[in-house]
Amino acid sequence: MTPHPPLPERYTSTEAKPDFVNRLFDQGAAYYDGVVNWGFLCSGAFYRRWVQQRYGLKPGMRVLDVACGTGLVAVGAARVLGSAREITCLDPSAGMLAEARKKLDATFVQGRAEALPFPDASFDFLTMGYALRHVMELDATFAQYHRVLRPGGRVLILEVTKPSGAIGRFFFRLYFGRIYPALTQLFTRSRAAKDMMSYYWETMDACVPPENVLASMRAAGFAEVKRKKIFGLFSEYSAVKA
Ligand SMILES: C[S@@+](CC[C@H](N)C(=O)[O-])C[C@H]1O[C@@H](n2cnc3c(N)ncnc32)[C@H](O)[C@@H]1O
Repeated sequence: MTPHPPLPERYTSTEAKPDFVNRLFDQGAAYYDGVVNWGFLCSGAFYRRWVQQRYGLKPGMRVLDVACGTGLVAVGAARVLGSAREITCLDPSAGMLAEARKKLDATFVQGRAEALPFPDASFDFLTMGYALRHVMELDATFAQYHRVLRPGGRVLILEVTKPSGAIGRFFFRLYFGRIYPALTQLFTRSRAAKDMMSYYWETMDACVPPENVLASMRAAGFAEVKRKKIFGLFSEYSAVKA
């Protein structure tokens, strides 16, 4: 199951998606932190740390942050763990990894969620922040997550999800589809940064519903599969490897 169909204005086949997405994040990497900071009202650092604590992240755990980007989730994890020594950050974008390296003394690996280059049962806690829409295939991704977690290990996936009600959807579309990309262009004067945020909206708009994500996690063998909604907007998908 793909997280969304091909977006013809960006690429015409699913096979062309990884190159497009990689270019997008390589070119937007330098702007990413600034743009998400004001776009989410400076809540991101606190939220990324707090959510990991709520789902049971504790010192001593081995953490894999898939789609680490500039390292925002991993920075939150390092605060909880007391250091970044036990954190592995994975991302396909060299540009995003370069930004993350400036912040963290973690292990960095260039790679993709669908083909994790790690042995079975290597991690206690696996995170993915705001990137599920970018993988090629959900089932393959969750199979990998299940494989690299040790029994009892937990997966936590953060997403922004289009609201189900008409009024919520109207304001969601207005903010993420129009205001956010336009302000990004205005503040950064960068076409690459604007494209990154326009694509952010397009993939959220086209994304499969949460039930499909949950079904795919269950199909991979996960137990205690849940989605918690925050403000009708943020999704916290979590599950445990039995
Ligand atoms: C919106 S950023 C999220 C960064 C960070 N996790 C955060 O919370 O801000 C999405 C990231 O997903 C990465 N990405 C894209 N395709 C991916 C894939 N197939 N596997 C893993 N990461 C991917 C991009 O390179 C980018 O760094």
